[in-house]
Amino acid sequence: MRDNQFRSFISDERIIKELIDPHTKLVLVLGASDTGKTSLIEGMADFLSATSEVGIVDLDIGQSHIGPPTTVAWGKVGKGFSGWKNITPEDFYFTGAVSPVGNLVSMLTGSILVTSRALSACEKVIVDTTGLIQEPAGRVLKQHKIDLLRPDVVISLERERELSAILDPFTWHKSPILHRLPVPQKVVIKTPSERSLFRSSMFTHYFQNDRLVKVSLKKIGFRFTGDFYGFTLETAKFMNELQDNSTGLIGRIVSLRDERNTDRALGIIQEFDEKEKKFLIRTPLGREFEISTVVIGSLKVEV
Ligand SMILES: Nc1ncnc2c1ncn2[C@@H]1O[C@H](COP(=O)(O)OP(=O)(O)OP(=O)(O)O)[C@@H](O)[C@H]1O
Ligand SMILES: [Mg+2]
Repeated sequence: MRDNQFRSFISDERIIKELIDPHTKLVLVLGASDTGKTSLIEGMADFLSATSEVGIVDLDIGQSHIGPPTTVAWGKVGKGFSGWKNITPEDFYFTGAVSPVGNLVSMLTGSILVTSRALSACEKVIVDTTGLIQEPAGRVLKQHKIDLLRPDVVISLERERELSAILDPFTWHKSPILHRLPVPQKVVIKTPSERSLFRSSMFTHYFQNDRLVKVSLKKIGFRFTGDFYGFTLETAKFMNELQDNSTGLIGRIVSLRDERNTDRALGIIQEFDEKEKKFLIRTPLGREFEISTVVIGSLKVEV
């Protein structure tokens, strides 16, 4: 079944041979929303994992399959792709949002960190991406992703050469090898409500075994994600961001980092005591971890 799925995207035996080649270590899949990127990756992972150790990097922070939304993450496929639930996240990096717009720096930082960890543990790594291809953020993000990750092969799924502004400049390079493929007829378009339901279910699943932790800003660091807002507690105060319901900190998604500056778990801010400078945070983080930093995202989450 998955072999048919794979071949509905790639039927050219030369491309298949190139993907099997041991020199092909990193494959980046690009395309607009609903072009079949994730389905292609499922089929490709299933096919390649018969002969190689395959890792998948999930850079789609909106429709995440590995790790909760707002994170980029990677996991091992094992022998044959048997569903996303069977891929355990090995590492993740928090971007604070479900769209790369306004979060390009954290997206790129997470992309390179997570992909290099996956490459050091697997023979082949396949990278899934968001469908953001629009000007200017989509172009800037995707082109710099290619520059940073240095994939061996880029596969794009396109309906009307809509990735030209992103990919044309790479046409005359020897590496990465570009394969610009058509979107198969069977690919179905998801509605905005299907997308948001999927995201909610991923968050609900993630926070199902949570607890409350109290953290004092006198003992831990904190910082904000985002390319252009909320730089310090003072700025946030000035912008009336602390307690205000729509823009305030309550309900914001955060990441809890350990003393090595590694993301350990996500959380949701339940309360902020401005006087005491203490956060009450809901999180599934185990008691064995010491929190050293709270990274505050821009998204508010209700679960
Ligand atoms: N070969 C196929 N046969 C049948 N259905 C397919 C096939 N490929 C994709 N689909 C369906 O099309 C829809 C969109 O595919 P998919 O989620 O893989 O696209 P995507 O580009 O990853 O989307 P997103 O922008 O949300 O990341 C899904 O519901 C998927 O099940
Ligand atoms: Mg997808």
